Amino acid sequence: MDKLLIQGGHRLSGDIVVSGAKNAALPILCAGLLTADTLQLSNVPQLQDVSTMLTLLRQMGLRVEQDGHSVVLNGGAIDKLEAPYEMVKTMRAAILVLGPLLARFGEAKVSLPGGCAIGSRPVDQHIKGLQAMGADITIDAGYIYAKAKRLKGARVVTDMITVTGTENLLMAATLADGETILENAAREPEVGDLARLLISMGARIEGVGTDRLVIQGVTSLHGAQHAVIADRIETGTFLCAVAATGGDVTLHNTRSNLLDAAMDKLREAGAILTSGDDWIRVQMAARPKAVSFRTTEYPGFPTDMQAQFMALNCIADGTSHVTETIFENRFMHVQELNRLGAAIDIEGNTSIIKGVPHFVGAPVMATDLRASASLVIAGLAAHGETLIERIYHLDRGYDRMEVKLSSVGAQIERVK
Ligand code: EPU
Repeated sequence: MDKLLIQGGHRLSGDIVVSGAKNAALPILCAGLLTADTLQLSNVPQLQDVSTMLTLLRQMGLRVEQDGHSVVLNGGAIDKLEAPYEMVKTMRAAILVLGPLLARFGEAKVSLPGGCAIGSRPVDQHIKGLQAMGADITIDAGYIYAKAKRLKGARVVTDMITVTGTENLLMAATLADGETILENAAREPEVGDLARLLISMGARIEGVGTDRLVIQGVTSLHGAQHAVIADRIETGTFLCAVAATGGDVTLHNTRSNLLDAAMDKLREAGAILTSGDDWIRVQMAARPKAVSFRTTEYPGFPTDMQAQFMALNCIADGTSHVTETIFENRFMHVQELNRLGAAIDIEGNTSIIKGVPHFVGAPVMATDLRASASLVIAGLAAHGETLIERIYHLDRGYDRMEVKLSSVGAQIERVK
């Protein structure tokens, strides 16, 4: 298994090109199931979750051609309406095939995802929404069996805001009979990006970017071209890395208005941030200041940035409180950061972080995707050498992270 070896203490400077968003690309690839025509996608990040999704879609009979960051999909010959446990257990986002399969083919068999490292993460809201649209759903031996001659438009109010739940129901509603209203919809930019693709495929959707999506179902969707939006979490991860090590880096192919909340907190921490239409520059000269925050749904502070910002708080001047409100178990990085010399206590869903002058390099273990990113940031800022094990978590969601960091002066290498 690959590991990352980091010699800490190097300031970062230069330019990094940000990749397309993982969490936009995954639902967008599933939208290929909604049409018999061709989708031409660009700015698709090259990472493990995308490969897993493409393998699953191929198994279903979707024609897939991948050339670098371009992916061409054709759903003219889909013959297997199933997502098996082996795929769903490695990538929960596989649940996103449920809505499109049911809407276009009238049936689907999808494994229940089960729990994961960051929380129990049920999919009851996906199921509740599809049932409201007339689907007949049974759960048997760990699988969701869904059937519907044709889904019917309905008003769906989810119990909580769910990103993939909104995306699944949105895709299903595009081909339903009549009007669907999704209340309490997730406003994450990745939902908006999916909606824009669906509109260019002929879907009729209003309220994009708001918490109320109104969809008039159509009988079929056609092919389209689409460029995936920038990855705001990759962007924020690099911003935190520079804030932790000090330096001056410009990120390209990304937009500051995708991550206002995290950028405001970085400014509070002392980073100087400037931006244009498709770039953000971060400059950091002094030790960071401790900054408290709580994670919330978009446009609030993203849970997917909590671990990385916590790494910054660990070496900040002062004490901070970080409260996680989205997932019940998303503090697995805390013990590993403490192994690197941090002083973090957990009380319920809040971490109390007393800033220490610096991290001290040590062997650590990655536990989930964003936890891995926080360990990379800590390793870059640490005195000495850090060896991070189980980086397959990192490879799931970051496009060649160590290559990009090396190009701005980090001493980081992949070892076998
Ligand atoms: N929830 C339910 N029932 C449901 C759906 C969600 O109880 O049917 C709960 C979840 O357990 C959680 C909360 O609602 O406590 C929010 O979960 P949500 O459904 O929004 O999360 P998700 O759609 O499974 C996506 C991202 C995650 C990101 C979250 C929150 C994708 C593929 N994944 O997950 O990304 O953390 O939204 O923003 O879009 C990551 O990239 O590292 C990652 C975990």
